[in-house]
Amino acid sequence: MTGRLSAKALVLVSLIFVTLGSVLAMRPPAAAAASVDGVLKLMPVPASVTVREGRFQVDEMLNIAGPGPQTGRAFRAAARFMSRLAGRTGLFLKQDFLLTQAPSVEGGIRYAFARPGTLLPNEDESYSLTVDLEKITLDAKTDIGVLRGFETLLQLLSADETGYYFPCVAIADQPRFTWRGLLIDVGRHFQPVDVIKRNLDAMAAVKMNVFHWHLTEDQGFRVESKVFPKLHQRGSDGMFYTQAQIRDVIEYAADRGIRVMPEFDIPGHSTSWFVAYPEFSSAPGTYGIERKFGVFGPAFNPADERIYPFFDAFLKEMSALFPDPYLHIGGDEVEGHQWEANPAIQAFKKKNGLADNGALQAYFNKRLLKILTKYGKKMVGWDEVLQPGLPNDIVIHSWRGPKALVEAALKGYQGILSNGYYIDLCQPAEAHYLNDPLPPDSPLDDRQKALIMGGEATMWSELVTPETIDSRIWPRTAAIAERLWSPASVTSVDDMYRRLGPVSIELEELGLLHLKNPDMLLRRLAGDPRIEPLQVLAKAVEPLKNYQRHGGQAAYTSLSPFTRFVDACAPESLPARAFRKNIDRFLAGKDPLLGREIGATLALWKANHALVLPVIAASPALREIEPLSLGLARACEVGLEALDRLMKGQSPPAAWAEEKGKILAEAAKPAAHAELAVLSAVTKLVAACAGPVK
Ligand code: ACM
Repeated sequence: MTGRLSAKALVLVSLIFVTLGSVLAMRPPAAAAASVDGVLKLMPVPASVTVREGRFQVDEMLNIAGPGPQTGRAFRAAARFMSRLAGRTGLFLKQDFLLTQAPSVEGGIRYAFARPGTLLPNEDESYSLTVDLEKITLDAKTDIGVLRGFETLLQLLSADETGYYFPCVAIADQPRFTWRGLLIDVGRHFQPVDVIKRNLDAMAAVKMNVFHWHLTEDQGFRVESKVFPKLHQRGSDGMFYTQAQIRDVIEYAADRGIRVMPEFDIPGHSTSWFVAYPEFSSAPGTYGIERKFGVFGPAFNPADERIYPFFDAFLKEMSALFPDPYLHIGGDEVEGHQWEANPAIQAFKKKNGLADNGALQAYFNKRLLKILTKYGKKMVGWDEVLQPGLPNDIVIHSWRGPKALVEAALKGYQGILSNGYYIDLCQPAEAHYLNDPLPPDSPLDDRQKALIMGGEATMWSELVTPETIDSRIWPRTAAIAERLWSPASVTSVDDMYRRLGPVSIELEELGLLHLKNPDMLLRRLAGDPRIEPLQVLAKAVEPLKNYQRHGGQAAYTSLSPFTRFVDACAPESLPARAFRKNIDRFLAGKDPLLGREIGATLALWKANHALVLPVIAASPALREIEPLSLGLARACEVGLEALDRLMKGQSPPAAWAEEKGKILAEAAKPAAHAELAVLSAVTKLVAACAGPVK
């Protein structure tokens, strides 16, 4: 598998549970209305929240006022806020459009800011938000702060039998890290503009502020070049962004306070460039767009002087197209065979005292850095670019391990963390949530800590298409957004999961398809709108994790179908997690009521197999899930038996545990590139009544 794939072992995170922490800050003081306790659904958790007595009731007369349309971004955000509020509440708000001067009525929402924000790291995104009985005040230094505050206010919206309301609160908020990014790889699978835009909306909802656009890969060159049009014409199968589309996306992102950083991954990961310009590669021959996944040989030839004017012209064009001061040059996984096999490159290395391929790549990077500096860009690269001799005004993007980030900071480089935020690994949100760019045991001093700018979730797209990408990104990425925004002390995993569900629904309101599309895929597979048995199974199942889908018989390419059952299963099943938590609670207290609830779930899953069978019979594409469905039924039968014994306090006969262990081991075998996500809980039940399961 690819280096990135094999480096998965390094993506393990340290699980540091610090209970409650400053989440306590979200709890109302004892004197406050008890009904507010535990109800706030803010994500990310603000830096400081005080919940007060009372509420601001929302009705049709709600009005909003602030600086007028000439102020641009905040005004448009206020308009979107009102539209979303109306959509969520069903209220016919009377306000014609936004009031741009002092309204005739007292009360309502008032927002203000001191200056327009710039789209640069370390820009002020702070805001203060006060909800009183009659008035809501949102103040910020910049209009970007106002945007962040509107998202908080929308998340505060609550409801009960009296109608909709905002609980009275005083919030003072600002981000912990200035770089809170999401990378979308549009090389392996192209993602059209509407996919990008809806994900920008989702990012804004959880206060993320950097969209890292991974635009070139072995499998596709996705940006129009007017200077070298052969690049996108030959390297993209016609699936690329025009420059007009790029500008549109940048403007859309800017309107949401999001920077757009492009990545052109060189000198490796570059096969698609060589379809048009084979002469710039390090080995002769013709090149086709790569269809498979992994780390491939083709790489630019750093010893060929012709590539530097080429990159100068290309990066000049791209520097003008992308206004962000940062430009990512990739630099990861240069496989090296082409360099080793090329005598001219070996001679060049010798002549220039370049001891190894790392030194050769550092030479290439230094030449690029000169070009980027000329065009006013700061260079960002994956951690392989950390080589002796590079000036420390480049930014190191750590992916192979958190060590690179520390090493870079010790040497005076700024850094961004993605190791631990690889959402394509299909890990639970918890694993990412507890991965801190600056963990409590960080060896860095304060000056070095200040070099850590933040982190990025990475949506590598080997196994995702426009139909499935939202469900691979959301809602788990909201947990990463919180890690990067909220105080370090906010670490309660259970509380994060409590808020993840509501956030997920909020994202759906913005047009994200992570909840809708799985059902759509199931309907397509079944050829029928009645998909309940498939839905039941899908909730008990998760895709194989850590790139295991690339192993075994699978030979995924960019042309493979991603419309199978596994593609309709969430990377992390929240119902499965809830079931596992219920089992833990039951085993701790043997509450009979909870035991009956668990029994009902087990019985439902057991009975589901008989309902799945006719659906499978009518759909050849679903036949592969039969072992999964059968495994679930058998495991649940075992679980029911164990539960019954536990409830009655009966010990099983001697051979029972071994016999049941075999059934569970059989059910644990992956099928259809997926695995049962509830098996560990059933195993615990069996162990609880018969000792450890072999
Ligand atoms: C990477 O995952 N190769 C940056």
